[in-house]
Amino acid sequence: VNDVGILAMDIYFPPTCVQQEALEAHDGASKGKYTIGLGQECMAFCTEVEDVISMSLTVVTSLLEKYQIDPKQIGRLEVGSETVIDKSKSIKTWIMQIFEESGNTDVEGVDSTNACYGGTAALFNCVNWVESSSWDGRYGLVVCTDSAVYAEGPARPTGGAAAIAMLIGPNAPISFESKFRGTHMTHVYDFYKPNLASEYPVVDGKLSQTCYLMALDSCYKRFCSKFEKFEGKQFSISDADYFVFHSPYNKLVQKSFARLYFNDYLRNSSVVEKDAREKLEQFSNLTGDESYQSRELEKVSQQVSKPLYDVKVQPSTLLPKQIGNMYTASIYAAFASVIHNKYSTLMGQRIVMFSYGSGLSSTMFSFKLQDGQHPFNISNIASVLNVSEKLEKRHVISPENFVETLKLMEHRYGAKGFETSKDTSLLSPGTFYLVNVDSMYRRYYAKK
Ligand code: ACO
Repeated sequence: VNDVGILAMDIYFPPTCVQQEALEAHDGASKGKYTIGLGQECMAFCTEVEDVISMSLTVVTSLLEKYQIDPKQIGRLEVGSETVIDKSKSIKTWIMQIFEESGNTDVEGVDSTNACYGGTAALFNCVNWVESSSWDGRYGLVVCTDSAVYAEGPARPTGGAAAIAMLIGPNAPISFESKFRGTHMTHVYDFYKPNLASEYPVVDGKLSQTCYLMALDSCYKRFCSKFEKFEGKQFSISDADYFVFHSPYNKLVQKSFARLYFNDYLRNSSVVEKDAREKLEQFSNLTGDESYQSRELEKVSQQVSKPLYDVKVQPSTLLPKQIGNMYTASIYAAFASVIHNKYSTLMGQRIVMFSYGSGLSSTMFSFKLQDGQHPFNISNIASVLNVSEKLEKRHVISPENFVETLKLMEHRYGAKGFETSKDTSLLSPGTFYLVNVDSMYRRYYAKK
């Protein structure tokens, strides 16, 4: 089989959001801290009628309908999520309701969990299945679904929520260049969820930022050396058209691209502009550790890489800035933003992806884009994603109301025997919602 990759995509995010500027004022943070400091505009969140299961049901149903896929044609379903609803029962099994209805229970795959990396693990599993001898000719389906919520404090504005579905198969318009993968995995406590009674993570913010950048460096080095081995020439930023990063908040994405630029400079200074070379020279002898601590390097490298950032990264930042950190879905929402913004010019182009999940697991990999056959072509994917309309249709909720919702959800987390308000007034037709959780913790959903 050739060109295994993503044939089709859809995204769902809650229609409820809070503006970062209003949240900033509400939290008593200095003006500009969330909007300029973190680089965020808006944050989506689930109200009490939505969760990672309802969002998955919504996005999978929508994808199957919009691309006219018979549920019987799905042979593998993999879910990536770090939002634990049940310690044993996978989210995948709830989604099976859609397939059971059409008589298809012959569907492999379960959930993958490791912070924001689970979606990438799920995606690799599906691609590997299609490329393997156990492939039965049907499609794979990957779902990334998360609701990112933090305790009150500096991490709270870096939440978000969304679910993304991706159909996997051969002859894909978005195919993997699997030879170039670079991975870096280690044991660290940067962000983790040891308290099983709470949805909130324990997070060492500063450490998580450094771990992210160290993982990025390590993956980029491996990615470059594989590229060189197979292509016989050095890789540099100019060899890819777009760079898409896991995006906890936009500022870290700006720093990440600057870091790649600095890596290029260190490896072969002649690939960067003369002016940039002169400005970066003072940092060329820093040790690795020193370079992560240097505020000056951060500032200068962001400044010299800015023109390239605007061209190669900016188009991926729309949804992550508008929705916030969607954990497993973040990197694929960033990728969907590139498709939304650039669908007419992507043929033949290369997109480099960096997936990071705390704890930590990370991989850099790349896609090659080509024309596909309807409905599996880039411009149709852009129209199904329907990003502008979905963003426009949202409802802005006050910070007070947002905080109240999170308080209610704290009580609901792990609880049994309750009914939701069933208030679906803000949801679009076709959206699934939570109706009740019975005395045996069984969850029931309905479709608006
Ligand atoms: N105007 C403009 N910028 C401002 C302002 C202001 N008024 N106030 C602060 N800033 C800037 C800061 O200078 C800083 O930017 P810099 O890093 O470029 O200097 C930025 O805003 C953030 O300010 P900090 O004081 O560093 O923020 P704080 O420590 O309060 O929180 C953090 C930020 C650590 C990201 C926190 O939100 C967090 O813990 N988030 C969750 C963890 C996370 O997302 N980690 C990323 C990788 S792991 C993962 O994906 C979950």
